[in-house]
Amino acid sequence: ELAEIGLVGLGTMGAALALNIAEKGHRIAVWNRTGTVTDAFVAEAGELAARVVPTHSLQALVDAIAPPRAIILMVPAGDAVDQQIAALRPLLGKDDLIIDAGNANFHDTERRSAEAEVQGVSFIGMGVSGGEEGARHGPSIMGGGPRAAWDRVAPILTSIAARHGEVPCATWMGPGGAGHFVKTVHNGIEYADMQMITEVYGLMRDGLGMAAPAIADVFDGWNAGALRSYLVEISGAVARAVDPETGAAMLDVILDAAGQKGTGRWTAIEAQHLAAPVPVIEAAVMARNVSSRLAERQAGQAAFGAGPQPVSLTVEDLEGALMAGKILCYAQGFTMLDAASKTFGWGVPLPECAKVWRAGCIIRSDMLDHMAQALTEDPGRNLILAPTFAALLKQHHGALRKVVAAAALNGHGLPALSAGLAWFDLMRTARGTANMIQGQRDFFGAHGFDRLDGKPVHHGPWGGHA
Ligand code: 6PG
Repeated sequence: ELAEIGLVGLGTMGAALALNIAEKGHRIAVWNRTGTVTDAFVAEAGELAARVVPTHSLQALVDAIAPPRAIILMVPAGDAVDQQIAALRPLLGKDDLIIDAGNANFHDTERRSAEAEVQGVSFIGMGVSGGEEGARHGPSIMGGGPRAAWDRVAPILTSIAARHGEVPCATWMGPGGAGHFVKTVHNGIEYADMQMITEVYGLMRDGLGMAAPAIADVFDGWNAGALRSYLVEISGAVARAVDPETGAAMLDVILDAAGQKGTGRWTAIEAQHLAAPVPVIEAAVMARNVSSRLAERQAGQAAFGAGPQPVSLTVEDLEGALMAGKILCYAQGFTMLDAASKTFGWGVPLPECAKVWRAGCIIRSDMLDHMAQALTEDPGRNLILAPTFAALLKQHHGALRKVVAAAALNGHGLPALSAGLAWFDLMRTARGTANMIQGQRDFFGAHGFDRLDGKPVHHGPWGGHA
């Protein structure tokens, strides 16, 4: 019996995805570069092994799948994907489909889509979120590529995806690199959410002198309220854990230098290309970069003094600040998606992005459900102006202000929360200050400016300087 679908790459994510597919009743052929990995995978698949077809060459993999074939690649992003496509392509026919399920840079996906078109193979770039657990039991899936190709595999993908109520979190976002772009923005927001949680954690630890278990209680409490989300939930669990080696709080044993594989950075880079302001995400990437410069930070503390000081803030202040910061960050993220969608002509449905992130992925939260509603009402409106979120911001921006101010006065760096607040204040100032920039530009470069009164005078009286 031929398999419905194939999968290349039985690493952590690929193996979990393959088991998920088999569990949902689909026969799947698998291949891994190292054959012993394939054998071990099947040996450990238990009763699901009945629906797994192990293969030991790419030709055998292709032969094991019913045409028109669909093959998922779950190999490390970058060159490995191109090599795998090059090896598969000669074995595939024109109705066959390759699905790259890794964390590809969307520029690569756009190129691979164009190449696939020339070579007569269909190509889908698909963002998959939720880590190993998500891949195994229900990830959030953001697809991009030819609509017809997506529709062909959609029944399998929706069957393995996470569900929000009855709605599967597997959605076609547009042609070419649209799916991987949406995943990239997801990761940028993931970085920002994590950083803002980290900033309030720092205030609790260094500003309020709270120990890890007490901090865990706070996160658990927030997770029972409006901030309910996967990342707040796991932050509570991380804060509560104890190091088996020393018996100390696990958090107090972990080195304060954050790793990153680059997707958050891509979001910041693309936002700059698009001139789309995402300062909270940019700040989060910056903070990871600073965190890894340990020796410089130590020298900094030696040179400038004692580091963060106690603050007089309440846990409620911190909760309000996190609420406000989160709304500001997501408003920026959705605006960036909108800008990209228009620039690349993708037609990404913003409400569908919010919906696909409601379950399965790392940034899943209750708030995303309200965002989906607000974006459905009016996809073109900045989220901060949607009545639900405008009301929440009115309620909580005072707390954000208080927290950022107290942090600044007492030496706590809050890059993401402060960046959110600064953006918010710019966004609610009708008469801004860029008139000065325009004056300066005209003074030194005769760049000209528009006038408030609409009169056709386009240069200032700068004499010989203009
Ligand atoms: C997800 C995550 C995942 C990402 C890791 C690590 O949605 O499941 O975004 O795709 O690879 O979280 O990312 P960093 O190493 O860059 O932190």
